[in-house]
Amino acid sequence: MTFPEVVKEMRAHLGLSQEELAAGLGVAFATVNRWENGRSLPASAARKKLSDFCLAHHLELEGPRGGYRLRSLEVTETVEQREERVSKMRALELFDTGEIDRIEVGTFRGLARIHEALFGDLYDFAGRVRQVNLAKGSFRFAPAMYLEEAIKKIEAMPEDSFDAIVEKYVEMNVAHPFREGNGRSMRLWLDCMLKRSLGQVVDWSRIDREEYLLAMERSPVKDLEIKHLLRSALTDGTGDRAVYMKGIDASYRYEGYSVYRTEELG
Ligand SMILES: Nc1ncnc2c1ncn2[C@@H]1O[C@H](COP(=O)(O)OP(=O)(O)OP(=O)(O)O)[C@@H](O)[C@H]1O
Ligand SMILES: [Mg+2]
Repeated sequence: MTFPEVVKEMRAHLGLSQEELAAGLGVAFATVNRWENGRSLPASAARKKLSDFCLAHHLELEGPRGGYRLRSLEVTETVEQREERVSKMRALELFDTGEIDRIEVGTFRGLARIHEALFGDLYDFAGRVRQVNLAKGSFRFAPAMYLEEAIKKIEAMPEDSFDAIVEKYVEMNVAHPFREGNGRSMRLWLDCMLKRSLGQVVDWSRIDREEYLLAMERSPVKDLEIKHLLRSALTDGTGDRAVYMKGIDASYRYEGYSVYRTEELG
C-alpha cells in the first residue's frame, strides 16, 4: 500500500484521530495531515518515530521498498520465531537490493558482511568472530584461540573449481566463526563462490535435511557425500528470486526454523 494508506490503516487499527496520532508521535497535526493527503513523506527521523510507535503497539511498519505494510506482531511470537522472521526479511533484502552480488566473494570479510546483514538487528556479535568454544554432538569446532589463523588459511584456499569451493566451505564450517547463525550465513557465502566461479548456485530446496546434516557431520573426515549432494543440486538459476527464496526456506529448515515462508515476507 502507499504511505498515506498505511498511515490511515494504522490510525484505524489503533482507533486514533489524526490529532491523537500526532500527539503520540510528538509531531505537529499538520504533519500527519500532510502524510495522509499524500503531500509529504516522512523524513528519516519521523519515519523512525513511526516505526517505534508501531512497535510499541505490537505492529511492524514495513516498507518503503515493495510498498508499505503493517504487520501485526503476535505477542506470542517466540524469540526463535522473531529471529527467523527478521533474519529472513534481511536475507531477502540482500537479494532484492542486489547487495548479495556486491559482497566480497570467498573471504571472511564477505562472510561477516552476510552474517551482519542477516543478524545485525538481533545479535550484538553479528559479523564478529566468536570468543567462546563451540561443539555440536561429539564434534568440537575450531578452538577460539586458533580461529584467526584458521580463517586466514581458509581465505587463501582456492575457489577455481567445484571441488575446491566445497573444500573451502567445509573448512569454514569446521572453523564455525560465529557464536550463532553459522550454517545459514555460510550457505549464502558458498553460493556466492559457486555463482562467481561456475555461474551456478545450489538449489537447497532439492537437498533433504537429514542427508545434508549427515553429510556435513561427516565432512571434516570425508567430503565425498557433501560434494555429491551439492553437485546434484546445482542450478543455473543464479538470479532466480523463487529459487533463492525457496533456498532460504530450506536453509532455515535445516536449522529447525520453518514458521515463516520467505515469500510472505517480501
Ligand atoms: N556435527 C557436525 N559436524 C560438522 N558440522 C556440522 C555438525 N552439525 C552441524 N554442522 C554444520 O553446521 C551448520 C549449523 O550448525 P550450528 O547449528 O552449530 O550453527 P549455528 O551457528 O547455530 O547456525 P544456524 O543458526 O544457522 O543453525 C549445519 O547446517 C551444518 O552445516
Ligand atoms: Mg543455530
